[in-house]
Amino acid sequence: MEYKVSPSMLASDYSRLADELKKCENGGADLIHLDVMDGHFVPNISIGAPVIKAMKRVCEVPFDIHLMISEPLKYIEDFVDAGADIISFHVECDSDVSETIDKILSCGCKAALAVKPNTPIETVYPYLDRLSMVLVMTVEPGFGGQSFMEGVMPKITELRRKCPELDIQVDGGINTQTVKIAREAGANVFVAGSAVFKSDDPARTIQELKN
Ligand code: DX5
Ligand code: ZN
Repeated sequence: MEYKVSPSMLASDYSRLADELKKCENGGADLIHLDVMDGHFVPNISIGAPVIKAMKRVCEVPFDIHLMISEPLKYIEDFVDAGADIISFHVECDSDVSETIDKILSCGCKAALAVKPNTPIETVYPYLDRLSMVLVMTVEPGFGGQSFMEGVMPKITELRRKCPELDIQVDGGINTQTVKIAREAGANVFVAGSAVFKSDDPARTIQELKN
């Protein structure tokens, strides 16, 4: 199983995005995690497609876009055009899930489904054959810097048993301690915001998370 680290830019310094991306690139990040919030699906508003498009111009690492928005189907083309390599959206959203996956795939992008901590993992099962990744949230989406919810681990273990090869991503409260718990449960793609960007040496933290 290949382990991947995806630093979440939500915790980065937005006034210096190009530098922050460089730190991730130099640190050996496998993906760049971009959190898109609409103030409706979650209480906050973050960045949208135009900012991601600008970031794409200065970064070679693949972009992993996490849509925390009510109607992802409406915006898929915008995010593909902005440079998405993989798009995660929530199974709890208001768009038709199957149609949204088809839209992402028809744009030549990889599709992933995300589940909130209290959403049963079985909700993603009907779509697994079209997904490159499943994102299991380990905090309630909407805010960085929250504490890791260990109670979510059984969902990961169950999904790993069912899908030995699938990329299973965890997002929320991941640091050099909690990453071990998530890995033991069966996750292999680790999003980390605060742990990377509040570190004295983001590149070293990325390596520590990977190893
Ligand atoms: C939360 C976002 C996360 C967030 C994680 O809704 O999906 O990607 O940036 O932040 P940390 O790693 O600080 O918990
Ligand atoms: Zn995220």
